[in-house]
Parts: sequence; structure tokens; C-alpha cells
Amino acid sequence: MAEGYGYGKTILFGEHLVVYGLPAIASAISARTTATVKGAAKYTLVDNRPATPGYKKGKYEEQVESNRLIYKACGIEVEKTPIEVTLAGDLTAASGVGASAASAAAIARALNGHFRLGYDDARINEVAYEGEKGYHGKPSGIDNTAAVYGGLIWFVKNLQGGANTMDLIRMPKPVEIVLGNTGLTSSTKEVVEAVRRNRERDPKAYERIFAQYQETVVSARSAITKGELKTVGRLMDANHRLLEEMTVSCDELDLLVGVAREEGAYGAKLTGTGRGGLMVALTPGKALQDKVADAIQTEGYVAYKTTIGV
Ligand code: MEV
Repeated sequence: MAEGYGYGKTILFGEHLVVYGLPAIASAISARTTATVKGAAKYTLVDNRPATPGYKKGKYEEQVESNRLIYKACGIEVEKTPIEVTLAGDLTAASGVGASAASAAAIARALNGHFRLGYDDARINEVAYEGEKGYHGKPSGIDNTAAVYGGLIWFVKNLQGGANTMDLIRMPKPVEIVLGNTGLTSSTKEVVEAVRRNRERDPKAYERIFAQYQETVVSARSAITKGELKTVGRLMDANHRLLEEMTVSCDELDLLVGVAREEGAYGAKLTGTGRGGLMVALTPGKALQDKVADAIQTEGYVAYKTTIGV
């Protein structure tokens, strides 16, 4: 029997834009998915992860395909060598929190332990990336990278197909954030595809959006490194506006962003796929974090309190 883990993540800058080779900044969160693998009479998957209602059902077929791709990448035939895979952990499976990548990383690690495959983190990341393909055909790789390595990362997808860029970013000290859950499950495949179609329809608008975003993310990296949190928050707001233009926000996300800002969050934006899923608000200090999380719960939504830059 062996156990593996993968971190949840929040994208602070650049979801969707990262698909086009623009840099993105993501942070792992402390909540993790765990996977346990043990020998069994027949192949079984037990999914005990806490989840947003409807998430597991909505993602079931993608999950089956993802696991098939993971076993294939590891050269394991679960019909010939049956195993029981059990998913658990404290990460709530929801759109926007990197649940699929955390699960893929956890399974890859547990398989590595159970079958003594001798993989290092780079290989675990490759396997987790294969697993991500089950959830959407052409993932940028940011989610599995955050799930495997943890920390705060600057990520640039190599559009030519070579190694992606991943730099660890350091913050002067950890900072509190709040994640607000719309409770809506979205399909990354469909939303990424919708953005692609929008861009084809209006390439000029997307040229401008990409240029504005490039300036935003470069300034964000510098502000994060220096601990200039008001600037980071302002840039998160700017990123949210661009994502709205790209039509990946929705009423519920805009509402949560509005509530967070009204309560004093330094900045707030959707995080991850969008059109449902999660909102991230920058809320330095325990008092501000509690205030924003309470306001979101009062609106009837679930809020998670966590920290970036640990
Ligand atoms: C999903 O967490 C992030 C997206 O940018 C897709 C990807 O990077 O593959 C929407």
C-alpha cells in the first residue's frame, strides 16, 4: 500500500492567458488531495474527497479518462494488476481550486510508491499532466505544476512543446487570502474552447487584452516580491476586468468579487476556469480575512481561508 498527495492551487494572475504562452502566477494552498493505492481483487476507485455538490457527478467521465491516461503513462494495466485507489484529503473538489490536478498528482505519487517506479518530481509532474488531459484536451500545465511542487510559482507554457518555465517566487511574508465558492461546476474544456472562439472572432481585441495583461503580470511579479500588497490587489482587479472582457466571469463571480472588495479586500478576481468555480481575494491579516470570509458566508456562499507564500 502507498499514499501520495497533490496540493490545491489558486491562480493569482493569468488563467486562460497562460494557454497562449503568457506568464501566469499561481500559488499552491495548504489543502491537499491524498490518494491511497493497494492491491485488490478487481480495479476499484473510491472517491472520498469532500466536494461541491454536483462536482463529482459532473466530472465523472473526465475523471475516468484522466485515470486511464495516468495508468497508461505509468505503464500499469489495472485489469492485469488490479488495485484499489482511494481519494481523500482536505481539499474540497470544486472548479477553480485545481482539484483535478491535485488528484492526478496524488495518484501518480501513490502509484510510484506502490509499484516502486522510481519517479522523481519531474516525472510525477509529467504523469499528472497526462492526467490533466482527461479533463481538458490541451492543459497549459500550470495546475499540475502547482499541485506537484507547491509554493508560489511564475509559469510560462512553452508553446513550441519544450520544457515550460517555472520559477519559484518569494514573498517577504505569507499573506492571507479568501476563496469564495460560487457552488457552480464549470467545464475547463468548454470555457477554454469558448475563449479560443472569441479570440478567432475578434483578434484585435485579444491583441490588446494580451498586451495589457503582459504589463499587469510583470508588475504583479515585482509587487509580490517586494511585498507591495496594495499594488498586487489593484493588479488582481485589473486582471479580473480583462477576464470579464474575455467572458469567463459570471454574475455569481462578479457578486463575490464585489462583496470582497466592499469588505476591504486589497483586490479580488475569479480564479481558475471561471463561469462558476472560485473567486480569490487578497486579505492581508487575520481580521480582514475573517471579515471578508464572513461577508461571503452571509451572502450564502462557502468561503475558504488560506495563505499564500508559505
Ligand atoms: C484552469 O485552472 C486554468 C486554465 O488556464 C486552463 C489551463 O491553464 O490549462 C483555464
